[in-house]
Amino acid sequence: MAADRPRVLSGIQPTADSFHLGNYIGAVRQWVALQETHDAFYCVVDLHALTNGEWDADELRRRSRVAAAQLLAAGVDPDRCTLFVQSHVPEHTQLSWVLTCLTGMGEAGRMTQYKDRVARYGTDRIGVGMFTYPILQAADILVYRADQVPVGEDQRQHIELTRDLAQRFNHRFGDLLVVPEPYILKATGKILDLQDPAAKMSKSSESQAGVIDLLDEPAAIAKKVKRAVTDTDSAVRFDPDAKPGVSNLLTIFSALTGRPVAELEAAYDGKGYGALKSDLADVVVEFTTPLRERTLGWLDDPGRLDDVLAAGAAQARKVAAETLAQVYDAVGFLKPRE
Ligand code: TRP
Repeated sequence: MAADRPRVLSGIQPTADSFHLGNYIGAVRQWVALQETHDAFYCVVDLHALTNGEWDADELRRRSRVAAAQLLAAGVDPDRCTLFVQSHVPEHTQLSWVLTCLTGMGEAGRMTQYKDRVARYGTDRIGVGMFTYPILQAADILVYRADQVPVGEDQRQHIELTRDLAQRFNHRFGDLLVVPEPYILKATGKILDLQDPAAKMSKSSESQAGVIDLLDEPAAIAKKVKRAVTDTDSAVRFDPDAKPGVSNLLTIFSALTGRPVAELEAAYDGKGYGALKSDLADVVVEFTTPLRERTLGWLDDPGRLDDVLAAGAAQARKVAAETLAQVYDAVGFLKPRE
């Protein structure tokens, strides 16, 4: 956590009973790598998990612990980064209010994720939290003065908003906030649904048959891999447009083994999909089994997990409280008497 390293901040929502392989390859794996080169802050964004308006309290508690346990199991290391739960650091919400008052209604209304929700459900069926979601995300980032934000392409617009808000704030109140850069996670990490390779692997996908959860039982994982949708031709070739299903399997294979896609194409040349799927099933099971065991180990010892999260929150708050105090002073709030 050397101070001369660029700082990164990223968040992941505790809205599923397990992360899936797409979360791991697309994001978590890169979080683990960034700890070595960056001053990394990673948070389980439980406040954001309320924005769909329909949550169950016990389920949220369980999912927040699972999310943290899976991050730890995957190699996010509290000795190398700051890992915490968003609601443990009240400064996020506090900064968020100031930023909310600096955001235009139209500006927030132009966020495509929000607009997609409105198109799908209508404004009477989504809450105000969904509308202000990106402002809270901006606060997550700005309160740590992060230099870079590792996210998927779908979050680019939210980072643009964050940059606009930081610049607006700095212009009006003095240069206090860092204007962050998006650190867009490679598209090669984009994992598709095994049953519907036109769609991203997603927790909200209709059928779970195409989604490999990191906590799935080995037998279930092998079955999902072996039943993955491919195409009628049998050439093992990486061609995401013409052969999205097979290409997706090669991407996963390569990501989990480090073997280049071209080498895999050569190794399975003429062998057909059956051999590829059967070997990939082994690869995925070999990868997920120890991860699952480590996760269950953390979940078996919630006291130890909560200790790690408390230490992370304390570390995070040191940074967040300092930014917030400066912001509150700059915008004209009276300093409370000590
Ligand atoms: N909106 C992000 C997502 O859905 C999650 C998130 C919340 C986040 N706060 C963040 C990501 C801050 C990066 C930085 O993926």
